[in-house]
Amino acid sequence: MHPDFDLDPDILYLNHAAIAPWPQRTVAAVAGFAAEQGRLGSRRYPVWLEVEQRLRERAARLIGARSAEEIALLKSTSEGLSFVAQGLAWQVGDNIVSIAQEFPSNRIVWQTLAERGVELRALDLALSADPEADLLALCDARTRLLAVSWVQYGRGQRLDIARLATACRDRGILLCLDAIQGLGALPFDLAETPVDFLVADGHKWLLGPEGLALFWCRPALREQLRLTEFGWHMVEDMGAFDRQDWRPAASARRFECGSPNMLGIHALEASLSLLEETGAETIATAIEARVERLIELVDQAGFELLSPRLPLRRAGILSFRVPGVDQQWLYQQLMKQGLMCASRGGGLRFSPHFHTPEAHLARAIELTKQTL
Ligand SMILES: Cc1ncc(COP(=O)(O)O)c(C=O)c1O
Repeated sequence: MHPDFDLDPDILYLNHAAIAPWPQRTVAAVAGFAAEQGRLGSRRYPVWLEVEQRLRERAARLIGARSAEEIALLKSTSEGLSFVAQGLAWQVGDNIVSIAQEFPSNRIVWQTLAERGVELRALDLALSADPEADLLALCDARTRLLAVSWVQYGRGQRLDIARLATACRDRGILLCLDAIQGLGALPFDLAETPVDFLVADGHKWLLGPEGLALFWCRPALREQLRLTEFGWHMVEDMGAFDRQDWRPAASARRFECGSPNMLGIHALEASLSLLEETGAETIATAIEARVERLIELVDQAGFELLSPRLPLRRAGILSFRVPGVDQQWLYQQLMKQGLMCASRGGGLRFSPHFHTPEAHLARAIELTKQTL
């Protein structure tokens, strides 16, 4: 077991694409925060604000943003996607290009724009041998936005976001990235991958809590996003409660309408500290080795792989079907026996992280075979 984790030895945890277990330092940060809040209330608020600032700095480094001021702390991926959908100045006849298999959050927000005359065009990944080329082929002169997940939640297919970002730039199309299934598992750098919007909640590959998401909007576009949430916290002069006039904060704080999620901030700051200390390349290599091993085991067991085989086409998600059984039944049996996984993409979804003990992979496949 990795020294930073203290998972129940009876559990095989292959479910980071859903909700990750917390590192011990995150558990300690939350316990410490709770104890402090209980004994002192908000007495040490200035220190908490330092933790908040550290989180923004870590998040900025994680994605290659220029400064902590570019990071907004939102409540979910869905909220960030909604800010983009509701904030851009759409014209009747505009279109958005996306993928048919997207998670509902990355579809519903764009579907709401139909009432404003905006068309949603979705590529069926199942029919595409070259998704980047096919996505771009769906674009035309009225395409305003490409809205995709970095890694698909169902079968884990990874897109070449750098290729899409460059092509979008050339064509004047904005690129909105739902990064929740990639960030924390794979290295990312805005300098090489110049998307326009990026959002990811903390509870999957970032090993943090639910209810706290990192949102980045290209600074030059910040003013173009019409704000849809308002309150004391998003104004430039945040402490001046008596002032009647106000303007939105110049920084990304303009997207944070009210009181911060201080409990979540303490948790995510601790989680990101572990990711940073470990290093994005080390993490990606460890995940790749685990997924590679799972593929071997899936092949040996005679199961049907649903995820891509090419390493560049996947991240931490490995989905497969076990022929001849009800996949939902199998999933429920495995969960009952302590194998934490998911039923997605037409089969079982296993998603190990860098800390997953390698021995757990063989045990998970063995348990699957025994359950049949
Ligand atoms: C691709 C993708 N986007 C968004 C979400 C949901 O994110 P949130 O709950 O932060 O809105 C998920 C969760 O499974 C997901 O897989």
